[in-house]
Amino acid sequence: MDSHPVWLDSPIPPQSQLTSDQTFDVVVVGGGITGLTAAYLLQLAGFSGCILERDRLGMGDSGCTTAHLTYVTDTRLPDLVRRFGHQSARLLWAGGAAAIETIESIVNAELIPCDFHRVPGFLHVPCDATPDEDTGLAEDFDLARELGFAAHWLKQVPVMATPGIRFADQGQFHPLKYLRGLAQAITSAGWKIYEHAEVTGVYGQANSVNVGEYNVTFKNLVLATHVPLAGKSGLISATYFQSKLIPYSTYALRATAVGSRLPAASFWDTANPYNYLRIEPATEGRQALIYGGEDHKTGQEEDPAGCHWRLEQRLRQLFPDATVDHRWSGQVIETHDGLPYVGATADHQYIATGFAGTGLTMGTLGAMVICDRILGNESPWQDLLDVNRPPLRGGMWSYLKENFDYPYYLLKDRFGRSDAIGDRELQPGEGQVLRVEGQWVARSCDTHGDQCAVSAVCPHMGCLVRWNGAEKTWDCPCHGSRFTADGEVHSGPAEKPLEQVEFATDRTAMRTVHLPVPDNP
Ligand SMILES: Cc1cc2nc3c(=O)[nH]c(=O)nc-3n(C[C@H](O)[C@H](O)[C@H](O)COP(=O)(O)OP(=O)(O)OC[C@H]3O[C@@H](n4cnc5c(N)ncnc54)[C@H](O)[C@@H]3O)c2cc1C
Ligand code: FES
Repeated sequence: MDSHPVWLDSPIPPQSQLTSDQTFDVVVVGGGITGLTAAYLLQLAGFSGCILERDRLGMGDSGCTTAHLTYVTDTRLPDLVRRFGHQSARLLWAGGAAAIETIESIVNAELIPCDFHRVPGFLHVPCDATPDEDTGLAEDFDLARELGFAAHWLKQVPVMATPGIRFADQGQFHPLKYLRGLAQAITSAGWKIYEHAEVTGVYGQANSVNVGEYNVTFKNLVLATHVPLAGKSGLISATYFQSKLIPYSTYALRATAVGSRLPAASFWDTANPYNYLRIEPATEGRQALIYGGEDHKTGQEEDPAGCHWRLEQRLRQLFPDATVDHRWSGQVIETHDGLPYVGATADHQYIATGFAGTGLTMGTLGAMVICDRILGNESPWQDLLDVNRPPLRGGMWSYLKENFDYPYYLLKDRFGRSDAIGDRELQPGEGQVLRVEGQWVARSCDTHGDQCAVSAVCPHMGCLVRWNGAEKTWDCPCHGSRFTADGEVHSGPAEKPLEQVEFATDRTAMRTVHLPVPDNP
């Protein structure tokens, strides 16, 4: 069993390393679908630029996706209509459709071999729903038809055998092969792509970003880091903006069914959290299936490995003989009103985030809007997705409810965390938070039995991180920051690593450990 996304079996070739100061029209931070698409569109428009990627291209959530391309948003159509009205709901879905068309045009223009194909998408009643359960799906169907989308009601959707809606002309592709094609087109046009180039600071006055010992100067900055960096925004406004984002972890597995010859298609049910299935075209008597779900707020699940187990059990109810060969998880970023945020968070600084589970289409749409903003063009989606749009009526309550996590976990973990006191032998793959001499220590043991210890205090706003045994990361329950076992930032909003601590791993020495970590944020 491989514990990485199936797409990483076809990695993108390494890119350049930054070795000197540079100046460009545009600096794009983040090499996922949003950053690479923005760079592609901006180079077409004649700008010079570079991409700065902390890790490798596509190694963020774009490499963890299940890669359904759809305009059917996670926020159901009736909810969108109730919150924003018919026109705005139609505009959002039309934006998703425009994004799929943009991806298709780029694939055709650049001849990108990324297995792009159109498939139907089915929104359906969950397989385990009771006969009298009201899923409200009929309202989704009526509205989709009224707003002009190609929707057809089925008494039984294929595979699931429950009622549902068929949406024509959705899509699938191989996300890393697509990103590889974008990267080739961008560098052929003279743009630079720097990997292992983490932006650790943005200097507003100088319009430059700091990467290690080098500075890169820009006229326009695109922060395509999924959870946006603070960048040139002041600390308070950046922190307030980040608090409007809600990271959820979601789980996926890839299985192969021998002898299956189902038509390729995408499926999403109406459960909360919902289950999603991608059936790929059958080849040589085998068919690849990618199944996902089990979402929870990042850092708040006690047993992440159990999420994989439950997912596999549900897949087995649909395909009893399928063999699971890959499993992984990643993050989707939700917002309080269900719309992404796209726009300027400071002068000449643009962000796109909050795509929920449709970030390949919404990230592409975000890149289109940012490109229009930089060009000074009106975008049809600019106002709808604006970062400063007013909160919904009742939205403040939803905001406060979601942000209750911060004081709740900050206090609960520090004063009542049950696993936090005392030490025990760690088995390979385990992690534990310990209280040692008044300090919080996050200790983990890798698969070779080597131990590692860092501060357990999240550098974002001081909550205590928790061990994610499925991904071998430290996850923060307050705003969803994630860190590698040795404390490096895996995903924000934290922009700094967990502090290093001196920590002896045998029990005697542990009592005399010295931890140079502040106790409070
Ligand atoms: C399991 C799963 C299934 C999903 N399924 C679907 C689906 O079927 N359809 C769909 O549309 N969406 C899906 N999504 C959501 C979608 O994958 C994401 O929303 C989308 O990929 C986000 O793209 P992005 O480019 O904005 O972010 P990312 O791909 O995360 O890219 C951000 C990049 O920024 C880099 N970065 C961060 N900080 C810095 C820094 N300081 N300096 C330099 N670089 C930095 C990161 O390393 C990363 O590479 C799924 C997500 C998951 C996890
Ligand atoms: S992510 Fe905000 S405190 Fe950890």
